[in-house]
Amino acid sequence: MARHFGGQAGIRRIVDRFVAANFADPRIGEIFKNQDAVRLRRVIFEQFCFILNAGCTYTGRDMRTAHTNMGVQQADMNRLVENLQRAMAAEHIPFAAQNRFLAKLAPMRRDVVQR
Ligand code: HEM
Repeated sequence: MARHFGGQAGIRRIVDRFVAANFADPRIGEIFKNQDAVRLRRVIFEQFCFILNAGCTYTGRDMRTAHTNMGVQQADMNRLVENLQRAMAAEHIPFAAQNRFLAKLAPMRRDVVQR
């Protein structure tokens, strides 16, 4: 699956776009505002690279711990996914490959969204 994403270099470009978009987002940027963008870029790269079988180890926290008490709602999750879709489209990832990757992230929703 990593080959559709241009290996680690391609994944890196998507993550950089994605993280920047979330910080700049008028709807969810507030949630990211005081977080460490450098660290976030690193661990999200590791996570995406791991999920895509591109040869990385994830060193970050589990999803429930990382997002606890953040107050993330389903609308925030939808917005974040839109930002990820835009980042993948900007890097010309084939639509089917985008959707396969999103399907792997989808189950994490229950650990991220507060209800
Ligand atoms: C499937 C969806 C998501 C995935 C895969 C994901 C992935 C991650 C990862 C890997 C981290 C780093 C964990 C660590 O700090 O060790 C993280 C942290 C974070 N995520 Fe998410 N995330 C998702 C959804 C969201 C949503 C919807 C929001 C808010 C709109 C959000 C906001 C944040 C913030 C602010 C941090 C930094 C927390 C901190 O450093 O204390 N995430 N996320």
